[in-house]
Amino acid sequence: MNDLIYELLLLADPSEKLVNDYVSRGRVFTASYCDVIVGEYVLIHTRPETIEIVNIAIKEDYQSKGLGKLLLKDAIKKALAYGAKILEIGTANSSIFQLALYQKLGFRITGIDKDFFLKHYDEPIYENGIQCLDMIRLQIEL
Ligand SMILES: CC(C)(COP(=O)(O)OP(=O)(O)OC[C@H]1O[C@@H](n2cnc3c(N)ncnc32)[C@H](O)[C@@H]1OP(=O)(O)O)[C@@H](O)C(=O)NCCC(=O)NCCS
Repeated sequence: MNDLIYELLLLADPSEKLVNDYVSRGRVFTASYCDVIVGEYVLIHTRPETIEIVNIAIKEDYQSKGLGKLLLKDAIKKALAYGAKILEIGTANSSIFQLALYQKLGFRITGIDKDFFLKHYDEPIYENGIQCLDMIRLQIEL
């Protein structure tokens, strides 16, 4: 795995164990600008006709320029091309901006995986002054 892609994967998810696990089961898509990799997302098949975006990241100096939205739209197209009827994504209770972004693109909240980050991450994580505890599950019907 290219170091730059791995850095991006860890930007979205600090658990090397989880990243290694889903990368081995999924497919990584990258976006480049002038031959530099500036973003990635990972898709895995979770259930029949269901695909999940398990990781998405844009290189820090390229964030907030619309690239994340473009990658999510690309993931929706890819999922449709694979014959999926549902595309899922999960994010932390503390990931306020990501929650807004996913809902702007049509994802709806379907549930909460309570204590996910307490169970699967060794160190406490804080974002926006909020402890990252639960995973908010979202999905879009394709
Ligand atoms: C989450 C992430 C992939 C989004 O990509 P991005 O390129 O920064 O996002 P975009 O520029 O496409 O922004 C999309 C929307 O969010 C808004 N937005 C962008 N930056 C923002 C910020 N800092 N705060 C609040 N809203 C913001 C934009 O206004 C835009 O909405 P609009 O088109 O309606 O105006 C990117 O920020 C990232 O890699 N973050 C670190 C890793 C991560 O958190 N991954 C997701 C884990 S669940």
